Amino acid sequence: MPGSGRIRHAGLAAKVVSAEAATAHIRHGDTVGMSGFTGAGYPKAVPQALARRITAAHEAGEPFRVNVWTGASTAPELDGALAAADGIELRLPYQSDPVSRQKINDGLMEYIDVHLSHVAQLAWEGFLGPLDVAVVEVSAVTEEGHLVPSSSIGNNKTWLDRADRVILEVNSWQSAELDGMHDVYYGTALPPARRPIPLLSPGDRIGVPHLRVAPEKVVAVVETDSPDRNTGFAPPDDTARRIAGHLIEFLEHEVSCGRLPDGLLPLQSGVGNVANAVLAGLQDSRFEQLTAYTEVIQDGMLDLLRSGKLALASATAFSLSPTAVADFNANARDFRDRIVLRPQEISNHPEIVRRLGVLAMNGMIEADVYGNVNSTHLMGSRIQNGIGGSGDFARNAYISFFLTPSTAKDGAISAIVPMVSHVDHTEHDVHVVVTEHGLADLRGLAPRRRAQVVIDRCAAPEYRPMLADYLARAQAGAFGRHTPHLLGEALSWHTRYLETGSMQPR
Ligand code: COA
Repeated sequence: MPGSGRIRHAGLAAKVVSAEAATAHIRHGDTVGMSGFTGAGYPKAVPQALARRITAAHEAGEPFRVNVWTGASTAPELDGALAAADGIELRLPYQSDPVSRQKINDGLMEYIDVHLSHVAQLAWEGFLGPLDVAVVEVSAVTEEGHLVPSSSIGNNKTWLDRADRVILEVNSWQSAELDGMHDVYYGTALPPARRPIPLLSPGDRIGVPHLRVAPEKVVAVVETDSPDRNTGFAPPDDTARRIAGHLIEFLEHEVSCGRLPDGLLPLQSGVGNVANAVLAGLQDSRFEQLTAYTEVIQDGMLDLLRSGKLALASATAFSLSPTAVADFNANARDFRDRIVLRPQEISNHPEIVRRLGVLAMNGMIEADVYGNVNSTHLMGSRIQNGIGGSGDFARNAYISFFLTPSTAKDGAISAIVPMVSHVDHTEHDVHVVVTEHGLADLRGLAPRRRAQVVIDRCAAPEYRPMLADYLARAQAGAFGRHTPHLLGEALSWHTRYLETGSMQPR
């Protein structure tokens, strides 16, 4: 058994090589499916070795670029290194790396931003073309040659099944106690063979704990001992706490009206400081026996599990700060029965989200007065991250919430605008908009009523007169009075910022 003792299958143990040697199996033009989801469970050594090979090839005047598919965002060792080496031709799905973002926005890297639940299906349908190589981090290999997944599952099942060649990274930094936390469902199929997924409540286990791989496809195994990205969270600021306060007050109101049960419905929470503030707010709320059917387990969710407020959580990945991950790795056994990690096609499955009645809480860049939401683009053309799982959840949620501070750039930009500069979630999928100023419940309201409520409750006070003035003139002068707009002016709010550095009147 090589170094770490984590590779307990003799045939795969015999394939251990250096990361440099493993990259010999990746060629210019290949499509490479990598593990990794929100900075967890991504391969740490092979992508960096590949970046060095790519740089050397470019210096020698040879072309070398690959297409990179993942679960979602990864880390500087993967996206950052490959993008800096100019080694990525096309990237999908969600990513949040600053170097990649720059290349994408400079038009130097192609980026396909698809719903996270759709990726495996697209790969199986064949629309994305063949998958040449899978590079997947696991936490151990069993005696039978099964793979104990790492701190994320993402699309690993699909990559291992679809790829011609497989490179494994076995990371002994990951807790050995992860074994048993995963639930890999092998029952998915393409229509017309597709059958209902037998998951009836968030904690159900419907699959097996390990990933399968055909041993003859494994061309290299690399041992690592490297931490996940683990960026820390700033403590919630006053704005985030006020947003969380409005949301929790609303949930309490819904319970008192009998529209939600006492333990609420399964929670989905995006990542980031506002989402963490909401989870921290739930810690002090009167709700008990909460559940989560979500994509990512972040610090706040771990705190809720620890205190017992949250009975169990289903996700596809962790996204923990260094402090939280140290605690988790030391106590993973205590969490094992209350956390289930699943492939992202299941954790984000729209049919399950709809059936369970998930309460979806996601961040956004801006919302317009009618409730359309932009989650991805700054000023209509510059991608920030991507849609991630927000569409999987929001479109199908029991209640879909979108949360944001009311302004950006120290108040120079209003996050409430007449017309969003890019649409990710339409007015039909957005139920509740929340800023630090208040909460707009748009359910059951026709467009002109929605606009009034969004302006009155959510817009920053300094922008309310401008928005009200726009709405009044649109209602008087629009082509139609159902969703009144003055098309030329609606988007000029954004150009106003580009021209003067502020959306405020000149
Ligand atoms: N107009 C222009 N710029 C804006 C803006 C607006 N309305 N709102 C924010 N920005 C800028 C910020 O100033 C910041 O710029 P900087 O990097 O130069 O400082 C940048 O956009 C990021 O804003 P920030 O407030 O730090 O973002 P965040 O970390 O709270 O994330 C999203 C907000 C929308 C980007 C993030 O939630 C996201 O990527 N969502 C889509 C995916 C998703 O929902 N995933 C969860 C599903 S499970």
